Amino acid sequence: MTTARETPAATLLYNDWYPAMRSEHLQGKTLKTTLLMDIPMVLGRKQDGRLFAMRDACPHRGIPLSCGWFDGKDVTCKYHGWAFEPTSGQCTQIPSLTSHDTLDCSKIFASAFPCEERDGYAWVYVPAPGSGRQTGKDISAPPELPKFSDRFRSAHLTADLPCNVDHGIIGLMDPAHGPFVHQSWWWRKQASIHEKEKHFEPIPEGFRMSAHAPSGNSAPYKLLGVYGEPIVTTIDFVLPNRRYETIRCGPKWFSSITTVTPTAANACRIDVFAAWNIFYKMPFVLPILKWFGNRFVRQDQVTMIQQAEGLKYNPSLMLIDDADRPAKWYFALKQARLDGTGTHPMSGPVTLRWRS
Ligand code: FES
Ligand SMILES: [Fe+2]
Repeated sequence: MTTARETPAATLLYNDWYPAMRSEHLQGKTLKTTLLMDIPMVLGRKQDGRLFAMRDACPHRGIPLSCGWFDGKDVTCKYHGWAFEPTSGQCTQIPSLTSHDTLDCSKIFASAFPCEERDGYAWVYVPAPGSGRQTGKDISAPPELPKFSDRFRSAHLTADLPCNVDHGIIGLMDPAHGPFVHQSWWWRKQASIHEKEKHFEPIPEGFRMSAHAPSGNSAPYKLLGVYGEPIVTTIDFVLPNRRYETIRCGPKWFSSITTVTPTAANACRIDVFAAWNIFYKMPFVLPILKWFGNRFVRQDQVTMIQQAEGLKYNPSLMLIDDADRPAKWYFALKQARLDGTGTHPMSGPVTLRWRS
């Protein structure tokens, strides 16, 4: 048992991609604001469809750029009318300059972040503070949810959590809270707690839990529309904040990516994007799934709002084996990235046991 003061310091992991907001909100000439990694951001979509994300502050005198105008091409500051190309941040116009001025406005940049649309989100790459301008060429692509057929249905869920990102993430990988937080008639009861054994293996900057259910012709399989195919489930956690869950049964599949994104030092947001081709033709499945999904996420959210009350006064906390081992791996992986060692906390496959 670790009984150190395990309240995470919640150091932010820079130089990575985070979902800033749903991209469907970025239409026409609207500018939208959000807070990401404690940075106020303004986002929009250019006429050519490309998304952009800038620090919501004019480099001249700091007024939020979101107070100004966007014509589909340039963002114009409302204070002195400086204009900026928003994907690069490059200044295109300073109206006060005269023919006597030698200032070259194209040498001035507002801070702009690489921004890409994937799975209905505007993903923003947040470099370490002070590391200068990043162009798309220097960095890897943002993550994308794996999908296993061309036709599928999908849904998004989101909830704000009033805790730091580490508490949000370890809540995501915590197997022991299920029977308590998510107890309800349709899910499970405390009395159904039983011993479990799960197999984990290291993957780059993360870990995988894999499970194979035996094939059968029982009711759930008939519902899935497949017979005699084994169900294979994998759950991956990957730094900085991503949990992928994939369920495959023959040609049928369900896939989801859940991220916990730091918005401010003591606040984060959980986003779930799920896609599936199970029940593809059945009506009402989408609203029913969304209803269950929303209730599930809401239960976690309410619990974390209550937890935040407790954490206000900085109590000492603990992580126990085996149920909290994934949380320990997360902290070790994060530390390895912060230190630049790349050391993985797992040397090979591990079996964990807990009751839930
Ligand atoms: S503050 Fe933006 S142009 Fe002056
Ligand atoms: Fe939960």
